[in-house]
Amino acid sequence: MAVAASQLFKWVLLVAASASLLARADLRYDFYNTSCPGVEKLVRDELALKFAADVTLPAGLLRLHFHDCFVRGCDASIMLKSHNGTAEQDADPNSTVRGYEAIEDIKAKVEAACPLVVSCADIIAMAARDAVNFSQGPLYQVETGRRDGNVSLKEEALQFLPPSDGNVTVLTEYFAVQNLTMKDMVVLSGAHTLGIAHCPSFSKRLYNYTGAGDQDPSLDAAYAKNLATVCTPENVASVQPLDPMSPKTFDQGYYQSVYNHQALLVSDAALLNDSLTGAYVQLMNNASSLDTFFADFAVAMINMGRAGVRTGTDGEIRATCAIYVD
Ligand code: HEM
Repeated sequence: MAVAASQLFKWVLLVAASASLLARADLRYDFYNTSCPGVEKLVRDELALKFAADVTLPAGLLRLHFHDCFVRGCDASIMLKSHNGTAEQDADPNSTVRGYEAIEDIKAKVEAACPLVVSCADIIAMAARDAVNFSQGPLYQVETGRRDGNVSLKEEALQFLPPSDGNVTVLTEYFAVQNLTMKDMVVLSGAHTLGIAHCPSFSKRLYNYTGAGDQDPSLDAAYAKNLATVCTPENVASVQPLDPMSPKTFDQGYYQSVYNHQALLVSDAALLNDSLTGAYVQLMNNASSLDTFFADFAVAMINMGRAGVRTGTDGEIRATCAIYVD
């Protein structure tokens, strides 16, 4: 759905105004105003080139920010590497995370302009924001001032990233650990309006839902049949769009898919099974405008971007994001 420029401007103002009242004392807007003026434009311009070359990258970068924030806070610990397979990147839920190279490339450009000033965590947060906006989603102001961590543990990624077969109670608990509400959860799940899932993330729903060789009865039958033709046991590397209606456009198509029982993941379908999250799905399914979703999503992203941040003298600013921790 096309978004009028005036509407977009209204959202920017609205989100900036409401969120600034709540801004954490230690994160703030335009943190790099004097130390690295122009960094946001630099990041955005580099990303524009990368998004033009790879239209699937926005989805990758949006997910990267989420997986960074949920493990040790938004501290770029997801960028760290291990020779021994013990870093966050080595955990199963991170096996399909994409966009590390893009972040590292942008960090190099930022370092050339302002050495040892801008954190990788902030670059990841800006990139997620730009990914949403380049996909025709809302534009919101990102709080900055995060600093990077230097610890990255596979077992923490396994512990803190929500399971794709979780029900609403389970998912809400994972979000609560990050100081995020059930509303944040159902709104941020709307990120699945972009991108893809690999067959193993949902094949159980097609072939062995309860362990008896059955299919998830909550899946729309025609949709399930179609999925089963692509996601076959011989073709587990295949992918499917999370929002079959419009996988590259940030819109409410995800909620329409969920509402119509055409959600790919158990965790997406589960949103219909709770009165509060179900009501939000229904509201978005029926919405005649994207205003509410866009405003909610911007607020929820700002909330997520505050998870466990290191600021002030805590943490570090590295020359490169991806150093080896062991
Ligand atoms: C509610 C809990 C969530 C669960 C259980 C979950 C799980 C998943 C899974 C299993 C995939 C597919 C991975 C694959 O098979 O390659 C995926 C993809 C994705 N997720 Fe989530 N997710 C959740 C929330 C979020 C949030 C909060 C965001 C961002 C704000 C997000 C953004 C994405 C994006 C953009 C993709 C597509 C990535 C790509 O195309 O490479 N997800 N998610």
